[in-house]
Amino acid sequence: MEIPATVTWQREYELGDASMDAAHREFVQTLSSLLTASDAELPGALALFREHAEQHFGQEDALMGQGDYASAQCHLDEHRAVLTSISEVQERLSAGDCAVARRLARELARWFPEHTIAMDAGLAAWAAKRRLGGHKIHFVSRSA
Ligand SMILES: [Fe+2]
Ligand SMILES: [Fe+2]
Repeated sequence: MEIPATVTWQREYELGDASMDAAHREFVQTLSSLLTASDAELPGALALFREHAEQHFGQEDALMGQGDYASAQCHLDEHRAVLTSISEVQERLSAGDCAVARRLARELARWFPEHTIAMDAGLAAWAAKRRLGGHKIHFVSRSA
């Protein structure tokens, strides 16, 4: 039997950036609704999750666009890959494939901690340094 996936808020998701933290709490909430939706509720829950993801990723993409953020490309690519998957799954779900939507939800529950703790934490730290320093921060290796 498959273990049901859940997503709950963890302290380690708190990055100290008010707007990112709010977006991440909303991610957990909307993904939790998707994970627990009935077959009939799945299209609506996935549409709401997509709306959230577009806003959440758009906000981070805009932040990365404000300066020379060294890790921007792979972070942007991950956001884009998730949005593409959501679109593809929405199409299959509209043809009645509930299983693919449930697989996506479980995959997102697995992806979120990794992405938040690795990529988003780095972006939040960079944004904080930028704000405090009042100028662009460049990550340069000490040995360079
Ligand atoms: Fe994020
Ligand atoms: Fe992100």
